[in-house]
Amino acid sequence: MDTVLSGIRSTGNLHLGNYFGAVKNFVKMQHENRCFFFVADYHSLTTHPNPENIHDNIRVVISEYLAAGLDPEIATIYVQSDIPEIPEFYLLLNMNAYVGELERTTTFKEKIRRQPENINAGLLTYPVLMCADIIIHNSDKVPVGKDQEQNLEMARRFARRFNNIYGVEYFTLPEPYNFGQDLIKVPGLDGSGKMGKSEGNGIYLADEPEVIRKKVMRAVTDAGPQEPDSPMSGPVANLFYLMELLSTPDTVEHFRTQYNHCTIRYGDLKKQLAEDMIKFTTPIRERIQEIYHNDAYLRKVVKMGAEKARESASKTLRDVREIIGYRPF
Ligand code: TRP
Repeated sequence: MDTVLSGIRSTGNLHLGNYFGAVKNFVKMQHENRCFFFVADYHSLTTHPNPENIHDNIRVVISEYLAAGLDPEIATIYVQSDIPEIPEFYLLLNMNAYVGELERTTTFKEKIRRQPENINAGLLTYPVLMCADIIIHNSDKVPVGKDQEQNLEMARRFARRFNNIYGVEYFTLPEPYNFGQDLIKVPGLDGSGKMGKSEGNGIYLADEPEVIRKKVMRAVTDAGPQEPDSPMSGPVANLFYLMELLSTPDTVEHFRTQYNHCTIRYGDLKKQLAEDMIKFTTPIRERIQEIYHNDAYLRKVVKMGAEKARESASKTLRDVREIIGYRPF
């Protein structure tokens, strides 16, 4: 059985892009692998969130992932800051990570550009903390998006370096994992590319029906097909793509035929799409609400997750300390 691990930064809500692009596959993977999914709340400190928001951000992420189908009885679901072994391991790994290589990381350079007023050391060593997250459970596969591939490459490098320095073959080199055939890129509603948090073009699992209707009705389209069977413009193709994810095949077929006959009214298509999105998100939204307000359940889930994660992490850390040369008196 492979060990699969992924970290989720506690910033913002899950949208349909996250759901179809990642979470749905996490839900599937938990049955076939030893899975760790955690809230990367230490990582989110690099942008200096307000103390008022820290707890709630974590609670939102956990509630949404549970509502989407991650099962705490099967996968290990935990909060990074509940696992003291992670920062200790991070400290040890920092000793063999070089400032030069960290400064050259694209994500770091990108952050410098975006927040020049807050270039903290946590940003510089972000890949080291991420490496600690990953290899502390000796993970084999790390499902992450393209933007995280370099960080993962750094994690492999630090793992390999540890093995080399101490002449051991202790750490497995973690592989990035994209879902192969299951990989789905969900387009946004603004006619451009991917659905994203920062793009403001997304439908969130927690969105109320009225919000979904408004967003979908505002989606970008075009002037409509002028000749039968004309190719679709990007924005219209995106709407059909979303419809394929959320509507029945008959519905998609119905609008496709109308498009090909030039009788389509985009307003009708959007209305249908919005209703199908609402049908899909409503049970999830209701579960999110229920879980979010259920203190006892959440407490139980994070406690159980922390226990399982610490069991695995403390074993690694004990070995690592031993390898580095710490011996009991
Ligand atoms: N850096 C990741 C992100 O921004 C979150 C993350 C932290 C992560 N630690 C991780 C992802 C370990 C995978 C593995 O999305």
